[in-house]
Amino acid sequence: MRIVVCCTEMKPAPWIAGLSAALPGATVEEWRPGAPQADHAVVWAPPQQLFDEQPRLKGVFNTGAGVDALLKLRLPPEAVLVRLDDAGMSVQMAEFVCHALVRHFRELDGYERDAAEGRWSFRRPRPRSDFPVGVMGLGVLGQRVAQAVAGFEFPVRGWSRGAKDVPGVQCFAGAQQFDAFLAGTRVLVNLLPLTPETENIMNRATLGRLLPAGYVINVARGAHLVDEDLLALLDGGHLAGAALDVFRTEPLPPGHPFWAHPRITVTPHTSARTLRDESIAQIARKIRAFEQGEPLVGVVDLQRGY
Ligand code: NAP
Ligand code: GLV
Repeated sequence: MRIVVCCTEMKPAPWIAGLSAALPGATVEEWRPGAPQADHAVVWAPPQQLFDEQPRLKGVFNTGAGVDALLKLRLPPEAVLVRLDDAGMSVQMAEFVCHALVRHFRELDGYERDAAEGRWSFRRPRPRSDFPVGVMGLGVLGQRVAQAVAGFEFPVRGWSRGAKDVPGVQCFAGAQQFDAFLAGTRVLVNLLPLTPETENIMNRATLGRLLPAGYVINVARGAHLVDEDLLALLDGGHLAGAALDVFRTEPLPPGHPFWAHPRITVTPHTSARTLRDESIAQIARKIRAFEQGEPLVGVVDLQRGY
């Protein structure tokens, strides 16, 4: 079995060493133009040339959860596309979202400003019942986040495509329940995949339906959010702030209004990082299962787009 690794932004050597150790007998090498035909590819943001030159790939294993960038490419006709399925991401996402939520709810940004000025002052405690949290996307990451937030006793709502039953979470499903989901949400967390249906889903109309003084935590993809609509709602007073980890253009360009906005917190797409060892172990397990004809978790439905 031959495996090519083509992960832009990651050093290939540790991936090749890890996959070789986990799959004895396999030839694992970095993909270069003209490389021999492989059975499987392990990828992150590969060029179209990889797939054009490797039409007989059986499996394409993404080293991330989101496959939106891959689905813009022409994949080999028979290849099964497999995403990372948690691999240590959900706990990172839960801690990141809870941190952003608690920082906003407890006004820790205000306390940081006070401390910088040497001021000892208190803010009035606010009831958490006034801060219902709505999680868009109740998949691998969204469910973990929703349950972590529920652990802090915030009211939690969740929205997904198909109906769900998640303990401690009031669940809404489908386009017909979207408005009801938004109307009872004050802190909106986005954990949807980016698909034609979800692109621009956070816009003036949808964000305008949130409860007053809403807060947006976008940890999925930048193209879910219409930047200028967020800015208009912040500046118009309907939204209180936003924590943004993902952007339409990454890195966020210098001079983009998000950088300097006093009520926007920017982080560099870091809420849930690919953990190399966990990811290698998971991908190796899946390649073994694939070769033995066993079912795989995390196979992407190309029609749905996730
Ligand atoms: P997942 O397991 O595939 O879950 C996706 C969820 O979104 C599912 O609950 C799905 O509903 C729901 N959904 C999809 N389309 C929908 C629609 N049109 N309307 C309503 N709900 C819809 O994905 P995941 O592993 O949780 O990851 C989610 C996303 O997080 C990834 O796609 C990626 O973009 C992003 N991410 C970001 C980072 C970061 O560092 N910022 C890291 C990892 C992932 P059903 O359950 O009904 O199918
Ligand atoms: C990161 O954004 C991922 O999709 O894994």
